[in-house]
Amino acid sequence: MSSLADKRILLGISGGIAAYKSADLVRRLKERGADVRVVMSAGAQEFVQPLTFQALSANPVHIDLLDPSAEAAMGHIELAKWADLILIAPASAQVMAKLAAGMADDLLTTLCLASEAPLALAPAMNQAMWRHAATSANAQTLKERGVIFWGPGAGSQACGDVGPGRMLEPENLAEHTESLFHTSHSLQGRKVVITAGPTREAIDPVRFLSNHSSGKMGFALAAAAQSAGAEVTLIAGPVNLDTPPKVNRIDVISAQDMYEAAKSAADHCDIFISAAAVADFRPAQVAEQKIKKKDGQDDDAIALIKNPDIVAAIATRTELRPFTIGFAAETEQVLAHAQSKLQRKNLDMIIANDVSQSDSGFNSDHNAVTVIDAGGQSRLAPALKTDLARQLIELIASKAQ
Ligand code: PMT
Repeated sequence: MSSLADKRILLGISGGIAAYKSADLVRRLKERGADVRVVMSAGAQEFVQPLTFQALSANPVHIDLLDPSAEAAMGHIELAKWADLILIAPASAQVMAKLAAGMADDLLTTLCLASEAPLALAPAMNQAMWRHAATSANAQTLKERGVIFWGPGAGSQACGDVGPGRMLEPENLAEHTESLFHTSHSLQGRKVVITAGPTREAIDPVRFLSNHSSGKMGFALAAAAQSAGAEVTLIAGPVNLDTPPKVNRIDVISAQDMYEAAKSAADHCDIFISAAAVADFRPAQVAEQKIKKKDGQDDDAIALIKNPDIVAAIATRTELRPFTIGFAAETEQVLAHAQSKLQRKNLDMIIANDVSQSDSGFNSDHNAVTVIDAGGQSRLAPALKTDLARQLIELIASKAQ
């Protein structure tokens, strides 16, 4: 049974060209078993007729705060209490500004203020509007209040611009909604430590060696493990991501810092997952001052020394050894290289990702992985990292008994 069965989703639609995609979103939420009621702002009705949403949701569409007949059928306070989730998709810059200010001047914003249900926004707007300091500040305010943001994605926009501000695709939003309601107790009472993101290895006070890891895979695993009941410690390299709810986060910069934090956290955990992209080497010397180019200099070299292998150090322990999982980011011979790392590092499981494709692996919302352990290999279908993380956590929970 879908995890949206019997879930009541209040879908708010604000004004924007992406409103036409919300018709498909209604369909996808309903396919997953949700009961959907739609609230449209005045702006949204300029783009799509309420009748479309009435037909797709099989419920009357709510448009007016002061409509006596609608209030008689289901008053706005009743509607606010009815919802298990309010999802606004598309969420315009205008609706974000009103929510950040606590305004309630139409039905949608009034419902948001009157409801205790979680609120998720799928922003959609022109890239310059999304990047504007006012919108950034509103998004920050809303995030601090616990509002969930799904997207926006980046790419070409209806106005011809290219950049961030595209509403996520309906299928992605339906998957996010499903993830939000997914509950599992498979890791109840277990302690999980996860490393995520890149490390930075200083060359001098202004330069460093690093990689393209965004931390998304590790953060998604942390959120999924927490949802499955685990007590989660997330050791994060320098990334630009919000800490998942109820997760204990330790921020680090270098591989050496991550090593120290991981060694001590792993003493008290049952499962250790190494999703970080740790730099294998660091500069042998860190210059105290910014290194200057010499007159006529055409080349230079930086001597490197090896960093500790964090996951191997934990997996080869004889005492206080958790169930230990590594990741392998490979561009060729993915499975063979991953298999060799599984053995060389003494891991219980390795998750191989092919990072030769730009639409998965490093710094993408998607990934495509194969899980390898002593029992064999299993390939998971390409999916959002949030979705894959849920599947991986269930798999790990079943093996780490
Ligand atoms: O962060 P994202 O943008 O979401 O991207 C996710 C990811 C691609 C970074 C992630 O899924 C991933 O594959 N992480 C491991 C990347 C990597 O560096 O793999 P590796 O083959 O170099 O290392 C193998 C394993 O050893 C990894 O578990 C790594 O965390 C660990 N390792 C490596 C070196 C080192 N010094 N210490 C380690 O613990």
